[in-house]
Amino acid sequence: MAPSEPHAIPFRQKGEVPAFAEEVEGWKGYIEWERYPEKKKQAEKILKNYDFPDPPEFQLAPLPETNPILTGERFKQYHQALGLGEIPDISWQYVLKEKSPDMIHVLQFPYNGEPPRKRLVEKEITPNPDFFVRNHGGVPEIEADKFFLDIGGLVNKPKRLTLADLQNESLFPRQSNVVSLQCSGTRRIEQIREYPGDGDELINAPWAEGAIGTARWTGVPLKKVIKYCGGLKGDAKHIELFGADTYFKKGKVYNYVVSVPWRKVKVYEVLLAWEMNGEPLPKIHGFPLRAVVFGYIGARSVKWLYEIRAIQEPSAAPVQRKEYLYYTPQVGKQNALYSNGFSIQDMPVSSAIMSPKDMDLIVHDGKITLRGWAYSGGGHWPERVEVSGDGGSIWYEVPWENMTTKYYYAWRLWEIELPVDAEGWLEFCVRTWDNALNTQPTFVRSAWNWDLHVTSSCHRVKVYSVNRSKPATASRLKELEEKGIPLTPLTKPLEIDLETSEHYEESMRLQNGRDPAE
Ligand code: MTE
Repeated sequence: MAPSEPHAIPFRQKGEVPAFAEEVEGWKGYIEWERYPEKKKQAEKILKNYDFPDPPEFQLAPLPETNPILTGERFKQYHQALGLGEIPDISWQYVLKEKSPDMIHVLQFPYNGEPPRKRLVEKEITPNPDFFVRNHGGVPEIEADKFFLDIGGLVNKPKRLTLADLQNESLFPRQSNVVSLQCSGTRRIEQIREYPGDGDELINAPWAEGAIGTARWTGVPLKKVIKYCGGLKGDAKHIELFGADTYFKKGKVYNYVVSVPWRKVKVYEVLLAWEMNGEPLPKIHGFPLRAVVFGYIGARSVKWLYEIRAIQEPSAAPVQRKEYLYYTPQVGKQNALYSNGFSIQDMPVSSAIMSPKDMDLIVHDGKITLRGWAYSGGGHWPERVEVSGDGGSIWYEVPWENMTTKYYYAWRLWEIELPVDAEGWLEFCVRTWDNALNTQPTFVRSAWNWDLHVTSSCHRVKVYSVNRSKPATASRLKELEEKGIPLTPLTKPLEIDLETSEHYEESMRLQNGRDPAE
């Protein structure tokens, strides 16, 4: 295979540039694949002619310290090979236009990005520019007035609805909910650091704690739309959702397709949303219409939604059947099947300390403020957050007054002033209890899994504590300040002697010297 990024060999087109037509006028970047098996075969044949660059090795080798961290050459070249080379550029333009300038670009294409840690927990509702993005392909550009949604499969009266139809309150009631979306890759970097796992061609992005966000989503309940289509035919049990982006897996091409169980739809936990925090959906978050599936893994909340089909079994499409699987620790490259992992749906209880961050040096007066998020999926909510200053022996409860609003489907932000007497390296950790008394596995290893999903173990950060309320420390800090010597970086040797000879000798006299009495 060809070398991987950043040394990927530049793309060289083989033969004529293929022309896969866009399906609908006013829907730029949308190529329909699912309805045309022949077209899929044609694309597969073209892809076979190429030796695409390997995905980058960043698990057994260090992560680049660049931003974007990874660039995704392989996926860019897939698009180029099919004559869709504009798509990665268009997608990147939306990142620059719609996202905060200081986003951490975990992967440039397909775009995956998270906001800076500290800012994510400043607001209970995440501002749209700071909301993480997880894409499997490019960003289709669909004009709102050219948009329509097809509803078919096992419904009694298949329909085509425009955005205006969906927004017509005499046809459909509005629904608006505060819902967190969480990618199952959140905190994946912790699993990678301990034990590498699958190097998926899409790239299992090395996310930190920011692949989660909370917004108020407004739209119509999918249940009402199905009802408008005369309800389901007898044996329909799942609803398949189609996204207009192009996706590649193992040499084949698809649209982004997953499904949700009807029982989830029935209880009003699947919304077809056009608004995010009171604004039309940003393009990168699915404009003009997306699904928001409450309490589930983010992967089911399909963006650029254009088709809905009622079906009998969960979708056979690769994102549903072949991805987002949770394996036991004994399953890996040697024995993984699609059928021996379970399909991740409800997200478990999890949490993270967003400040301080790992390896911080903190000068304090006996108390350190910790801030973070806590979340539980499946309609559960965080009841109690506990933090420990000693790696998990002694736990302190975050006072309820310091936790944000309780929602059925959203995170709670929290803050605590932790009493910290000890100095030197400490390990802070957090665990959350949800209303069903679920809590988090203690160590990353307890829940490590081959596809590196759902890092729900207690989140740990190592900090170096300097407690100014200790006289010896206060005196050293004073001396350093007077001499203009900074404490950081921690590892830089001190230029001054640690004590005077007089002080040393006096101390030895008090300790009866270095030698034993006899
Ligand atoms: N929908 C489409 N069409 N294409 C995608 O790549 N990514 C999914 C989901 N919906 C995806 C999609 C995943 S894995 C997640 S976690 C969420 O969108 C992320 O939503 P966001 O990018 O709006 O934060």
